[in-house]
Amino acid sequence: MRSLLVLGALLVSVSAGAETPSEQFRAGQAAYQANCVLCHGETGRGGQGYANPIWGRGAQIPKFGTAAGLLDYHLMMMPFDDPTRLDDPTKVAITLYVLAQHGTLPSSATLDPAQAASVPITASTAAATPTTSPASTVQTATPTPGSAPPATPVAVAAPVAAPTAADMAAGETVFRRRCAVCHSTAETSGAMIGANLRGVMGRRAGSVAGARYSEAMRNSGLVWDEETLTRFLAAPAQVVPRTTMVFPGLRDHGEVAPLLSYLRAVSRP
Ligand code: HEC
Ligand code: HEC
Repeated sequence: MRSLLVLGALLVSVSAGAETPSEQFRAGQAAYQANCVLCHGETGRGGQGYANPIWGRGAQIPKFGTAAGLLDYHLMMMPFDDPTRLDDPTKVAITLYVLAQHGTLPSSATLDPAQAASVPITASTAAATPTTSPASTVQTATPTPGSAPPATPVAVAAPVAAPTAADMAAGETVFRRRCAVCHSTAETSGAMIGANLRGVMGRRAGSVAGARYSEAMRNSGLVWDEETLTRFLAAPAQVVPRTTMVFPGLRDHGEVAPLLSYLRAVSRP
């Protein structure tokens, strides 16, 4: 097992080419090895805590849209066991490392958080299906694809009220910033602190098996749609008195509309 991992790491470093790694890359590599390998493996192809690849062929990181999206996710969510364990510069370095392994940036690069939004993450060039190239700008804005068939974009174009790709990317960012500490939308993950929100649109409140709910939520009689979600998210404790969702409320329309587009998109079968 161990020797397989080492071999994999060698292959990755050979395929990364001969450029001289930056200081930041080296720091990111060391920090990755110390903090992420247990769950994601040295080769990023899966470890004890998570079976899916986090870079390279089939990896889902293009769903974060840009380096900034991935960085946000690392800042807020990783390491999964304790996201506060590493400081921000270390997470920037790890983000560079992950992106270099994915083929988005050369290992000689440095990642400046202020510029990260202008670095798109596309499907790895090693992808089995040639879904990249000219359409890559569209693809980077694709919302969370299901984790099953890699690189199959979710159908963004619905017959009615198709959100723009920009809305979707913005909505996912809002979700990552404001909701993802407690909720997942990943197909394969269950409830975290709150229920998985994949499929939330059209669902009866308090109805996901295995999620922990307050009596108040179970008995609220709500069905989640744009209207009930907008009200609930603006003031959870007013709409569902005694709810256990501790959340200050989301009133900014610049955030609510894209978030709802995102939740609708991940609710499509
Ligand atoms: C204790 C286990 C654990 C550790 C340690 C950990 N992760 Fe994760 N990671 C997970 C799990 C579980 C998920 C899936 C979370 C979800 O679906 O909400 C995940 C998801 C991810 C993803 C998104 C992958 C995808 O398919 O959507 C990235 C990127 C990632 N982790 C990077 C890191 C990095 C970088 C580190 C080290 C700083 C790290 N993780 C440390 C468990 C871990
Ligand atoms: C600090 C953790 C936390 C954050 C942040 C959070 N939630 Fe929740 N959420 C919860 C908990 C806990 C519940 C269960 C509440 C109850 O049962 O009263 C919940 C319940 C919900 C429900 C009802 C789920 C169901 O199956 O009926 C929705 C919808 C929801 N949250 C959406 C969101 C959205 C969208 C965001 C981001 C804008 C968000 N939440 C942010 C913890 C959180």
